[in-house]
Amino acid sequence: MDDTVVVVQDGGVMEIRLNRPEKKNALTRAMYEAVSAALEQAQADAATRVALLTGTGDTFTSGNDVKDFQERGVDRVPRGGSRFLPVISSFQKPLIAAVNGAAIGVGSTMLLHCDLVFAARSARFMMPFTSLGLVPEAASTLLAPRLFGYQRASALLLLGEPLDAETAFAWGLVNRVVEAAELMTIARDAARRLAALPPQAVRLTKRLMKQGAPDLAGRIEEEIGVFSERLASPEAQEAFAAFMEKRKPDFSRFG
Ligand code: COA
Repeated sequence: MDDTVVVVQDGGVMEIRLNRPEKKNALTRAMYEAVSAALEQAQADAATRVALLTGTGDTFTSGNDVKDFQERGVDRVPRGGSRFLPVISSFQKPLIAAVNGAAIGVGSTMLLHCDLVFAARSARFMMPFTSLGLVPEAASTLLAPRLFGYQRASALLLLGEPLDAETAFAWGLVNRVVEAAELMTIARDAARRLAALPPQAVRLTKRLMKQGAPDLAGRIEEEIGVFSERLASPEAQEAFAAFMEKRKPDFSRFG
């Protein structure tokens, strides 16, 4: 077992660190497998409430290992991302990214599947698929035009233009741009705050945002259905009781 992905559990937060700094955290098949396995474990483990992705050194990740791409092109070996992309896009708990530097290729497209993204001021985002003779992945051809608008997405996905952290914030890819030294403190604080919330309410809210009915009337109907069920849930009852008793709610027993 190598240490190119380091997984640390801290209370309800699983921190997953891409750790191949000598290759700018380029993702090998083994790393995709390790991150996927960690996220699957986080999904299954009731005590894990939140996953936090980051990288070691000056790069978040330089994307797929280009050497792997080259070999796969010749051997037609299945892609490392074939497990990772479905896992990250269907992850039901909150997923936070702390982008500590350049995020290239899948390093940027995976952020479209994260719930909160914090970026160091030095972060750069780039999706240079066309210049490699490839096409974008991770449903970024769907999600990038939706988030940025078609013309901005074209600059990123057709031209492969880089985005600096402040522009990524202005375009809505990033929640907050922070000094590098503060990045992990701020990301971990958000992770801990999410981990303290009622876990089912958080998961259901994420599900509604990601997979709710596409039309307004259908969504209102769906929310009302879930809302009504939630009123009687042990989580809501604990929140109501805590409010009435003027104490802090404790959601730690819920999974
Ligand atoms: N796959 C394989 N190796 C990579 C890599 C990648 N995606 N990104 C970086 N590396 C390797 C470099 O080949 C170099 O290896 P070496 O020391 O054996 O020569 C090492 O990591 C350091 O990279 P280097 O380019 O020297 O660092 P830099 O600070 O000048 O630039 C990047 C950093 C990330 C901007 C640059 O490496 C880069 O553009 N990488 C390729 C990104 C890419 O095209 N990814 C695929 C997207 S689909």
